[in-house]
Amino acid sequence: MATADQIKALVKSIVDNDENRFYTLALQVASKEEKQGHQRVAKDIRELVGERKSSASRLKSVQKGSSIKSFKRSNNISIDLDELLHLAHTNSRLSDLVLGGECQAQVNGILTEYRQKHELAKYGLLPKRKMLLTGPPGNGKTLTAKVLATELGLPLYTLQFDGLISRFLGETAAKLRAVFEHIASSKAVYLFDEFDAIGAKRDSNNDVGEIRRVLNSFLQFFEEDSSESLIVCATNHPELLDPALFRRFDDIIEFKPPEKN
Ligand SMILES: Nc1ncnc2c1ncn2[C@@H]1O[C@H](COP(=O)(O)OP(=O)(O)OP(=O)(O)O)[C@@H](O)[C@H]1O
Ligand SMILES: [Mg+2]
Repeated sequence: MATADQIKALVKSIVDNDENRFYTLALQVASKEEKQGHQRVAKDIRELVGERKSSASRLKSVQKGSSIKSFKRSNNISIDLDELLHLAHTNSRLSDLVLGGECQAQVNGILTEYRQKHELAKYGLLPKRKMLLTGPPGNGKTLTAKVLATELGLPLYTLQFDGLISRFLGETAAKLRAVFEHIASSKAVYLFDEFDAIGAKRDSNNDVGEIRRVLNSFLQFFEEDSSESLIVCATNHPELLDPALFRRFDDIIEFKPPEKN
């Protein structure tokens, strides 16, 4: 068995967000187990460390410079950001997107403002960065997020809701905080797809305490965010969203089914 000191040191390494120290300590525990004749435990620990390290290095090579932290401390909960944010390098171009006049103008406006953000800054203005895309399925909301990423030369991260919502009190908010820390530290387009999963009205009947807290945390982090990332929320059900959300977006784009033309 690992000693109390070793367990404390392991916990401290996670709290300090020191992944390398965590692995070193885990390997020390393995050696100790081996010396005590517990070959299988030692082997299991070494294998676990090996798997974790190789998947971490695989991930790094995919990320090409933009860093996801596997261990992140928030309210003493260790969070695996790989489960929360899915990274993709996109190649959809603006010319792939066919939109009605107003939609097209809004998308063009976002691109122009972001590209000219230094010019805007001279007048104390900021580019649009927080967008809500609404409309029925299959009309280009996800495609638009991809196009924004490609055209602005940014990676696209998609939030994975199934990884976000936790049944443990407070854990979802901690995960959301970690996501917003990532948004602040790694410039990218962040797609919150099926956004009604967290943005539903706080008084709706299916309300559970944790979901309400998630929305409150989301509103707080979203408002505080002053990063250079673009946050794109998409939903088929804008009528389900909490009214407090709408004024926090810089732009709301309504996607409609294509017309005859
Ligand atoms: N406006 C559009 N211009 C060009 N292609 C489109 C457009 N809308 C949809 N498509 C095509 O349909 C596919 C599905 O669209 P997309 O995934 O963007 O829909 P969505 O609005 O995100 O739907 P959902 O609400 O189901 O997520 C796209 O990958 C693209 O091939
Ligand atoms: Mg979609």
